[in-house]
Amino acid sequence: MKTVAILSQKGGSGKTTVAVHLAVCAELNKKTAAIIDLDPQASAIEWASRREAETPEVITATPEQLPGFLKQAKENGADLAIIDTAPHSDRAAIVAAGLADLILIPCRPSAFDVAAIGTTLNLLKLSNAIDRAAILLNAAPPRGIMTETAAAGLSEIIPVVPIYIHQRAAYSHAINGGHSVEEYEPNGKASDEIRALYKWIMKT
Ligand SMILES: Nc1ncnc2c1ncn2[C@@H]1O[C@H](COP(=O)(O)OP(=O)(O)OP(=O)(O)O)[C@@H](O)[C@H]1O
Ligand SMILES: [Mg+2]
Repeated sequence: MKTVAILSQKGGSGKTTVAVHLAVCAELNKKTAAIIDLDPQASAIEWASRREAETPEVITATPEQLPGFLKQAKENGADLAIIDTAPHSDRAAIVAAGLADLILIPCRPSAFDVAAIGTTLNLLKLSNAIDRAAILLNAAPPRGIMTETAAAGLSEIIPVVPIYIHQRAAYSHAINGGHSVEEYEPNGKASDEIRALYKWIMKT
């Protein structure tokens, strides 16, 4: 079982959006995925409650419960466990990072968001998890050089995932309906980038 923690101390960077899309993509690829929602706001749980499909499984957990829940997911045959975390949650983020094979840090490619990334990176350095972390540029403008500029600057300090998730209305529409973009608009550009991201994650 592969365990991916999605964290960023910055609110609204796209953690839950990325978590649910990766989990649905895994299920569409005939794998079993579980989302473990560490966020007390429980956005992933709320998304699941708007879904008709029973998969992926989404469960809420405290940081203390996380090791046990991951063990249980593995025993139940899950191929992918995705841990969604809250912003400004040092302790939960440290626990999640410590148990993950891969840590994704969604970041919008704006100057403010890039400048704020230091808090998350410091947390990962302190918990010796930085070597397993990569930035995922999210809500990237479909045109212009902003994303490439952000990627070039960030890649000097931490690996940047070579697939960018762009700002697309399909993401919000899909999430609002309890879907993923692959269910909402299977032939759209958002679906293509989610499939590419999933492929990259499974081989990393
Ligand atoms: N690539 C995208 N394109 C369009 N809208 C997006 C994209 N990524 C995220 N959003 C929107 O931005 C908002 C914040 O996204 P999301 O809830 O995934 O962030 P988060 O990091 O989980 O937030 P929090 O820190 O509060 O948990 C949501 O309304 C979501 O629909
Ligand atoms: Mg969230």
